[in-house]
Amino acid sequence: MNQNQTPLLDAITDFIETKPAYFRIPGHRLDQGISRRWTDKVGADIFAYDVTETPFTDDLHSPEGAISEAQELLCALYEADRSFFLVNGSTCGNEAMIISAALEGEKIMVARNAHKSAMMGLIISGATPVYVMPEVLDDWGIQGGITAEAVRACFAKNPDCKALFMVSPSYYGVCSDLAEIAKVCHEYGALLLIDEAHGGHMYFHDDLPMGALQAGADLCVQSMHKVTGALTQSSVLHIKSHGVNDETLSRVAQNLHLVQSTSPNYLLMTSLDCARYELAMHGTEMMKKALELAESTRKRINCIPGFCCIESGKMSKEAENAGVKAIDGTRLVISAKKLGITGFALDEVLFQKYAVNVELADYENVLAIVTYANEQEDMDRLVEACEAVSREWISESSSQQKSKVSDSKMPPFPVLPEQVMTPRRAYFAKSKMISWKEAVGKISGQMIAPYPPGIPVIYPGERITREVWEYIERFRADGRHLHGADSDGKLEEIKIINE
Ligand SMILES: Cc1ncc(COP(=O)(O)O)c(C=O)c1O
Repeated sequence: MNQNQTPLLDAITDFIETKPAYFRIPGHRLDQGISRRWTDKVGADIFAYDVTETPFTDDLHSPEGAISEAQELLCALYEADRSFFLVNGSTCGNEAMIISAALEGEKIMVARNAHKSAMMGLIISGATPVYVMPEVLDDWGIQGGITAEAVRACFAKNPDCKALFMVSPSYYGVCSDLAEIAKVCHEYGALLLIDEAHGGHMYFHDDLPMGALQAGADLCVQSMHKVTGALTQSSVLHIKSHGVNDETLSRVAQNLHLVQSTSPNYLLMTSLDCARYELAMHGTEMMKKALELAESTRKRINCIPGFCCIESGKMSKEAENAGVKAIDGTRLVISAKKLGITGFALDEVLFQKYAVNVELADYENVLAIVTYANEQEDMDRLVEACEAVSREWISESSSQQKSKVSDSKMPPFPVLPEQVMTPRRAYFAKSKMISWKEAVGKISGQMIAPYPPGIPVIYPGERITREVWEYIERFRADGRHLHGADSDGKLEEIKIINE
């Protein structure tokens, strides 16, 4: 297919050029009715592209024109069998994958480090999750991969699982051996569903890890807004029929109606059309730039006293043992724990003092995501800020900062709590609020996930063990952001199921 086209962008442009008297939604009438406060800052032109299903611009929920062509170009680029634009992020894609694979009374294997959108999919589907645990990369205090052996062992106990849902790469760029895992899933007649929210760029350079579709996944979801030039919330779902039958395929299309707005945003969809065009035309150069920027920065950070940055090339023995097949070289996992600085404290000082803003922090590391759109100047600022932190921390005069140093070890992820009922049953069960301090031993009516990365520690329907409580309490007591906590985010109370 000729990738040198942008059908949706062109269709909207053609529509605008008709200079229509506009009586449709949205009410702002192309670029006329947006607040001047906003247009004075950003200009008005972009708002003309915020249209709806006009005679030129097709319909995401029943595409047969420009959107259909744009999706076909995407599909060809990723060598998938079918591809869909998503306007509610990978969140809705993960939900759609799960509800297409397993329903009430059926089992689905879910990696325990799955994003909370997996839990939302489980609530909608009613399926019974069977969890498979990721390994741990102890030196870095982050999760490793899911091993094919762990998947096989879980299938041996649960051969009736309809699918495996897992994330690869993780937020930190950790990729599991999907080719081996796909073989195991397909031996058991199960689908492999991959949350590739962080990996849509990996198909465009040989030095990046292998993409899920290339490794044998049946369905995969990618947040194009996280790693390419698409706008926030713009994601895609691909199907590659390694093991998908026609019924599942048509269920995916149907289920996308269930989880997406009936007013899909055309700015988001146009951004997907244009991001695909850029990847098709310049993907290799874009990824080469990102990889080179990241690699040279990694080397520089590794020379800063007290700092280190996870290596992405050949995997260490520790990484291999932790199920890590590869690490995305564009992710910089940076630690200054040798200086006694937690990731959280580093994150704060980098931004407050040096206006260097990284993606996330944990107890041990910060994570900087490098893309093709970064410039050398950004990298220099990151390195120089780390150098300054190192100097200040080492010097005698940093007593004020040293007071921030706390135990910088990430608490170990708790062992699986007992699942008393499915997430769906628990979500809709009769419940009450009790003090968080009294929660041990109770069945949780909600999920709780430190955010980012948004991985639930407890799912609705699970009994809260002392270990789970203490893990969450560590984040709560330190004032960390928790998703699923009550309205003020402080987790003073928790919803529990009436017993
Ligand atoms: C692993 C993973 N999956 C899914 C999501 C949800 O993606 P989106 O923000 O596109 O809805 C996230 C968000 O951070 C994520 O980290």
